[in-house]
Amino acid sequence: MKPGTCRTLSIASAVLALAATFLPAALARAQTSHHLPWTNKSLSAERRTDLLLRAMTLEEKVAIVHGVDRKTHPFKGYVGYVPANPRLHIPALKLADGRAGVGNGATGVTLLPAPITAASSWDPSVLNAFGRVLGEEQWGKGTNVELGPTIDVVRVPEWGRTFETYGEDPYLNGQMAAAEIEGIQSQGPIANANMYLTMNQETDRFHIDSVVDERTLQEIYLPPFRAAVSGGVGSVMCAYIKTNGVYSCENPHVLNDLLKTQLAFPGWVMSDWGGTHSTAASVRAGLDQEMPGDRYYGQALETAVTNGQVSMATLDEHVRRILVTMFRHGLFDKEQPGNWDASVRTPEHAAFSGRVAEQGTVLLKNEGNILPLYGVSSIAIIGADGGTKPQVEGGGSSHVVAPYVISPLEGIRKRADAGIQVSYLDGSNVAGAASVARAAQVAIVFVSTSEGEGHDRPNLELPGNQDQLVSAVAAANPKTIVVLNTGGPVLMPWVDSVRGVIEAWYPGQEDGNAIAAILFGDVNPAGRLPLTFPRKADEIPTSTPQQWPGVNGTSTYSEKLNVGYRWYDATGHTPLFPFGFGLSYTTFRLSHLVITPTRLGKSPGLIHGTVDVTNTGHRAGAEVIEAYISQPSSNGEPPRQLCAFAKVFLKPGETRQVRLTITRRALSHYDTTAHRWTTAAGEYRILVGTSSRNVPLQSVVSVTDRAN
Ligand code: BGC
Repeated sequence: MKPGTCRTLSIASAVLALAATFLPAALARAQTSHHLPWTNKSLSAERRTDLLLRAMTLEEKVAIVHGVDRKTHPFKGYVGYVPANPRLHIPALKLADGRAGVGNGATGVTLLPAPITAASSWDPSVLNAFGRVLGEEQWGKGTNVELGPTIDVVRVPEWGRTFETYGEDPYLNGQMAAAEIEGIQSQGPIANANMYLTMNQETDRFHIDSVVDERTLQEIYLPPFRAAVSGGVGSVMCAYIKTNGVYSCENPHVLNDLLKTQLAFPGWVMSDWGGTHSTAASVRAGLDQEMPGDRYYGQALETAVTNGQVSMATLDEHVRRILVTMFRHGLFDKEQPGNWDASVRTPEHAAFSGRVAEQGTVLLKNEGNILPLYGVSSIAIIGADGGTKPQVEGGGSSHVVAPYVISPLEGIRKRADAGIQVSYLDGSNVAGAASVARAAQVAIVFVSTSEGEGHDRPNLELPGNQDQLVSAVAAANPKTIVVLNTGGPVLMPWVDSVRGVIEAWYPGQEDGNAIAAILFGDVNPAGRLPLTFPRKADEIPTSTPQQWPGVNGTSTYSEKLNVGYRWYDATGHTPLFPFGFGLSYTTFRLSHLVITPTRLGKSPGLIHGTVDVTNTGHRAGAEVIEAYISQPSSNGEPPRQLCAFAKVFLKPGETRQVRLTITRRALSHYDTTAHRWTTAAGEYRILVGTSSRNVPLQSVVSVTDRAN
């Protein structure tokens, strides 16, 4: 070493030490927006993401692709949490459940009716408003990722999460999903479409393998997610189960091929809670984020990147999807004043909850116009569900802490005139209930099922003594009405002995007020079934153990395309109450179906239809016009499939022309040789009516050339 070198070195290290002392402070001062260029709102979300990604260290990238433990990062309320990165100004992700209101034990929130209730309105504007209320309450709680909606098609009627869904039809589910997602996201939070894919049962839900053919996957189970993606959903939750042998959250076909490539989903995929099973395999398959912890996407992922098992480019792609969605939804730019302790419920939301319950209530039977109740002097209310234990919601992650619940007994007592005597018995003593019913002019029996995540119903029967109770009351009082509070279909062995049947689903906190309004005719029921009610247990589409709950860990989708009403139509079984069905206190007439196809040659365009609807009764009310497509039999499609619907409100005597728009997709099927959707030449019948089994108006559209 030359003389003087030592001194030079010590001066250099002194300068370095000085720099080390002052540089962080200087850097911090310099952290204005031009040093954090991704905070510049005028740049595109993609550009901002690129800039941010470049500034991130490996640890920072890994930190965003998984949630954290409450023990290491105390956070309140939320069921999933990704901490903020103050250095880079990345906000925290705060995830909360919410299918019928803010979940995870939150208080000061509104319990809305279950989504199956909202879907029974057959009115996307109801679902849109539902999403807005949910999104507003979540945002007020500080949530920026709302875990919902659940958009899977109901394959198994006993499925314990049926109440969380929109029912058994891919088209209806897709329309409802898009409407609700738009509503949620308009209020701030990023919505999360779940559970992707083939999540159709709770039994053995962590391991069951759904074995399903390509065409069925494309035509039945994928379409609601396609609609959610078109509707701009920001995130998707992959499911616990396997699809064709591979867990959804590490399934490259399900995630990369179908969701990200075919559907061109630009957002991010998070795993269901504990649904991640690997590091490198999941990363390569397309899982962007592990929830709720870091078992596979924490240190293990950092190591996998460091040792080259996972490339930085692959990790960047996952981080990019999360960040770009956060930028698109304004999470970097919007102030979020909300917090978990805030009370977010309002009188308007409570009133809305009641309106959804009214609009989703389906009148199934009304023999001799027993309803609405006129000139009645005494009513017997029977059943725990009617008084002591109203079933207003489903369980599991959907559970909401209701601020109050109006029981049917309270609602009816409040609504009944002073002159009407209302008696009540919980029905645990069947003989006692029968004698109370005998003494009243009208008997209303409230029956229910308790459904929730983690278990399917054992069968479609009403549990406990409820069938016996209805039969005994009906034998005692010829004017018996049954109100069902169930999350899905049930068998009704007593149906011929009662005068009225109402499906009120899980109606939320305003239960009693809503059912009273329907029973007394303040509201004219206009709900329609979003799933089929079977006559017999062995007539359902999934009646063999191989189909449900599965044998040796495999659930075989041997019914293929014939899900829901498609099965009943294909097998000729008559349902007890068909898909799309519902009565009103008024009557309607449909006439003058006019179908105008545009360019139905090589490339079929939209089909426009009009139909005149007249209210032929004496009360204002709403009818739902349903259009089904019947493809040429050589296409191998189910006999008829819902392809358009519209709801119309009419005053007595009023006629309106209702418009229906049918897309090219309705005339297509999935070609498993070419692996794409195609429209074959032939005659396509369009059937228009008021349920899947009542389609009096028909028209034929000819497609002259095959069109891909
Ligand atoms: C459910 C999800 C839910 C998550 C967080 C899981 O068990 O399947 O739907 O969002 O828990 O609560």
